[in-house]
Amino acid sequence: MAEHPEPPAPGTLVTERLLLRPPQESDLDAIFEACQDEEIQRWTVVPSPYLRKDAEYFVNDLAVNGRRTGDALIWCVVERGSGALVGTQGLIRTPGRPGCAEIGWWATREHRGRGFTVEAARAVARHGLTELGLRRLEWVAYVGNEGSRAVAEKVGFRFEGTLRSYAEQRGEFRDSWVAGLLATDLAD
Ligand SMILES: CC(C)(COP(=O)(O)OP(=O)(O)OC[C@H]1O[C@@H](n2cnc3c(N)ncnc32)[C@H](O)[C@@H]1OP(=O)(O)O)[C@@H](O)C(=O)NCCC(=O)NCCS
Repeated sequence: MAEHPEPPAPGTLVTERLLLRPPQESDLDAIFEACQDEEIQRWTVVPSPYLRKDAEYFVNDLAVNGRRTGDALIWCVVERGSGALVGTQGLIRTPGRPGCAEIGWWATREHRGRGFTVEAARAVARHGLTELGLRRLEWVAYVGNEGSRAVAEKVGFRFEGTLRSYAEQRGEFRDSWVAGLLATDLAD
C-alpha cells in the first residue's frame, strides 16, 4: 500500500535530515547551552554573556510575537533521527522594504560541518521566496565571517558588497558583508 506521510504541522519545514519548527519550552536548555559558544557570541547579536533569561526571551517572546505579527519567523532546527537541536534559522522582515527579509542562522558547535546549516537555510529561503511571496532575501554578516559566507554562497546568495559601519552588534556598528537572493534567482 502506498505510504501517506503526515503533512507537516503548521509553521514547520521538513528536509531530508532536518525538521524546522517553532521554538518551544523544551528547547530552552539546548539553546542556552548552544549560545555559550564564543563563535555565536562573536558573529551574532545574541547577548554576551548569554543568560538563561535570554533563551527565555528568544523562545517565549521574540519567536512567539514574531510569528504572530509575521515580522519574524524563527525556527529551531532539529535532526529528524535524534531530535537533537542542531541550530536555528530566522527570517526577519526588513522594515520599510516590502517583500524583503533578512535571513540569519547559527549552528550548535557539536553539529557543525555536516551541511545542516546549508540544508536548513535552503528550505527557509525557498519557503520565503515561494510560499511567503518575498521578493528579496538578504544575508548580512560582519566582515570576516567566512563560515557564514560559505553557507550563504552554497544556498545561492550572490555577494553584493561591503557596507561600512552597517550592522549593529550590542551597540556598535560593524563593517558588514551583504548578499542577496531573489525569487527570480531560484529558477536559474
Ligand atoms: C557559520 C555556521 C552557521 C556554519 O554552520 P555549519 O553547520 O558548520 O555549516 P555547514 O556544515 O552547512 O557548512 C556549509 C559549508 O560552509 C563551509 N564552512 C563552514 N564553516 C566555515 C568556515 N569557518 N570557514 C570556511 N568555510 C566554512 C563548510 O566547509 C561547508 O562547505 P563544504 O560543504 O564545501 O565543506 C557556524 O559555524 C556557526 O554557527 N557560526 C557562528 C554563528 C554565525 O556565524 N552565524 C551567522 C551570522 S551571519
